[in-house]
Amino acid sequence: MNILITGGNGYIGSHACLVLQQAGHGVVSLDNLSNSRADVAERVARISGRPLRLVEGDVRDRELLERVLRQEKIEAVFHFAGLKAVGESVSRPLRYYDCNVGGAVALCRAMAAAAVKVLVFSSSATVYGEPARMPVAEDCPLGEPTNPYGRSKLMIEQILADLSRADPSWRIARLRYFNPVGAHESGLIGEDPSGEPANLMPYVAQVAAGKRESLQVFGTDYPTADGTGVRDYIHVMDLVEGHLAALEYLRRHPGLLTVNLGTGRGLSVLEMAETFARVSGRPVPYRVTARRPGDVAACWADPALAQRLLGWRAQRSVEDMCRDTWRWVSGGVGGARE
Ligand code: NAD
Ligand code: WQD
Repeated sequence: MNILITGGNGYIGSHACLVLQQAGHGVVSLDNLSNSRADVAERVARISGRPLRLVEGDVRDRELLERVLRQEKIEAVFHFAGLKAVGESVSRPLRYYDCNVGGAVALCRAMAAAAVKVLVFSSSATVYGEPARMPVAEDCPLGEPTNPYGRSKLMIEQILADLSRADPSWRIARLRYFNPVGAHESGLIGEDPSGEPANLMPYVAQVAAGKRESLQVFGTDYPTADGTGVRDYIHVMDLVEGHLAALEYLRRHPGLLTVNLGTGRGLSVLEMAETFARVSGRPVPYRVTARRPGDVAACWADPALAQRLLGWRAQRSVEDMCRDTWRWVSGGVGGARE
C-alpha cells in the first residue's frame, strides 16, 4: 500500500516509516519539523535502503494534504503529527488544541475529499486519566485527563468515533500507547527531545551519558512496591510493529478499532534506573524530590485485546529498551539537542 505518515520525522513516526518500508509499503512522510531534525528521513532511508520522500508541511494545511494524498495515490494514513509535552500543554492550551485537534480535523477532511478512508491514529493511555482499575483494559471507563494534551487526545478519539458512526466505510484504528521508549538497533534513529527531557527514559540516558548531573525521582511515597511511579514501558519497535498489525486488521475489517499497545508489565522508576545502569555500565545517580503534579501512582496495560484481534504482543525486554536507548544516546547521533 501507499501510506502517508504525518509526523514521520519524529520519534515514533520515523520508526513507523522504517518498519512500513521494510514490509514493502510505499511510504511518504509529512512533517513541519517543529520537533525533529531535517535529516531523520535520510537516516531512515540509510537503514531501509529505500528512498523516503519527506514533504515539509503542516498537517493543518488541508490543500497541501489533499494534494499529497492524490498525487502520491495514498491508500492509508498513519497520523503521528502533533504536540505531546504535557507540561507545555498546561501553559499553552490553544497551541495544543489547534495543532492536535485542528490538525486531526483538517487531515480527516482532506482524506474524505481524496476518498482515503483508512486511518491509524496515535492515541495515548492518558485518555484513561487515573485508571479505575489495573491493568487497564480498553473497556476501562475513560477518565478525566489531567491536562490539555490528554484532553486533546480524548477529543480526537471522540471525533473519530463520530466520523465512523456517520460513515461506516471508514477504517479507523485508535491505538492507545503506554510509555514508548528505546530506539532502532542501528543507533541511527531514536527519541531526540530538544532541551531538558520531560520523560524518564531520555533523562536517565542523559544522566548515564554525563549530560545531566543526576535523575530527580519524583516521589518515593506512592503505594507501589518501592514507592516510586510504575509504568508500562514498551519498545518503540514493538509499538510500530503493532501499527503494522493494526493496518492488516483494518484491511479486513471496516469500522472502528481501539486497542492498547503496552506490554502488560509495570516497572518502577528505580527499577528502570537500575536496569539502565546495569546495561550501560554507567552510574545513574538520583535524588528524591516531591511528586510531579498530575502523575498517577501506577499505570500498565492489559494487552489481551491486541493479542486476540491483531495477533500482536510486545516481544522486547526492558534490557533491550535500555540497550537500544544507550546505543542511540552514546553513539553520537542521539546527543542532547539544546
Ligand atoms: P515527536 O514530537 O517526536 O514527533 C511528532 C512529529 O510531528 C515531529 O517530527 C514534529 O515535527 C511533527 N509535527 C508536530 N506538529 C505538526 C504539524 N502541525 N504538522 C506536521 N508535523 C507536525 O513525538 P512522538 O513521541 O513521535 O509522538 C508521535 C505521536 O504519538 C504524537 O501524536 C504523540 O502524542 C503520540 N504519543 C506519544 C507518546 C510518547 O510517549 N512518545 C505516548 C503516547 C502517544
Ligand atoms: C514516567 C515515570 C514519573 C521523569 C508521559 C505522558 C503521557 C505519554 C507518555 C504522550 C513517572 C517518573 C519521570 C523524571 C521521574 N506521552 N519520572 N523523573 O508521565 O507516565 O507519561 O509520557 O502521550 O501522556 O504523560 O511518562 O516518562 O514522564 O514518567 O521520576 O525526570 O517516571 O513521575 O512515574 P508518563 P514519564
